[in-house]
Amino acid sequence: MNAAPIGIFDSGAGGLTTLSACRRILPFENFIYLSDQEFAPYGNKSDSQIAERVFACSQRLLDLGCKAVVVACNTATNVGIKLLRTHFARPFVGLEPAVKPACEYAQQLDRPQIVLFCTQATARQEKFLALYQKYCAYPSAVVSPQKDLARLIENHLLCPEKIRGEVYKILTPYKNADIIILGCTHYILIQHLFQDFYLSQGRPVRVFHGNLGAANRLKYLLTQDSMLTPSQKPGKVCFM
Ligand code: DGL
Repeated sequence: MNAAPIGIFDSGAGGLTTLSACRRILPFENFIYLSDQEFAPYGNKSDSQIAERVFACSQRLLDLGCKAVVVACNTATNVGIKLLRTHFARPFVGLEPAVKPACEYAQQLDRPQIVLFCTQATARQEKFLALYQKYCAYPSAVVSPQKDLARLIENHLLCPEKIRGEVYKILTPYKNADIIILGCTHYILIQHLFQDFYLSQGRPVRVFHGNLGAANRLKYLLTQDSMLTPSQKPGKVCFM
């Protein structure tokens, strides 16, 4: 048993969606959420710049006494999780685009059209490409790296309605999609805009992302290492 908090970070608000999934699965745990806004967005930075931030955020959370860290960002995970696991002797949970469950679901469809949205930095990572090639055998599937979408979402957190037009413009070339994979936690914040666009095309899509997988993995690792909190009271969140 271990009552220490769990650290969780992202370049901004996208990881809040991951936090929410983790709290549903582990309601008694305390969390420290670190938003690395000053260095956002990660997706347009070089690998070495992202790796530096990933390392600094993790170090900060561990210095605050966190017993484990959730990297609530696909970009940070793909660039840096290997480095973190080599360097720190604590459990690290990362975010992966939900390619496997999406492609398992795709088997039920006739000629499924799959589109995976992610940041530019994620799209070029070997770790991501290996995952994608392992599970996604559909020649019609596409990866669509987005230069500005995470920033756009972060800048309109209180009024996502204002970016509906921009989002629809991004989705128009993919209007025949059946399955959407959200490979960036920021995109999950506007999942309703994705759903609305496809409904307006008369084409309800299935949307996949990695939050539940990450939350389950966190629970598994803490359980395996006997690190769950002994508390039976609802956990708290501290925001940084
Ligand atoms: N939320 C992050 C992700 O999941 C990245 C957003 C950014 O570019 O900072 O990839």
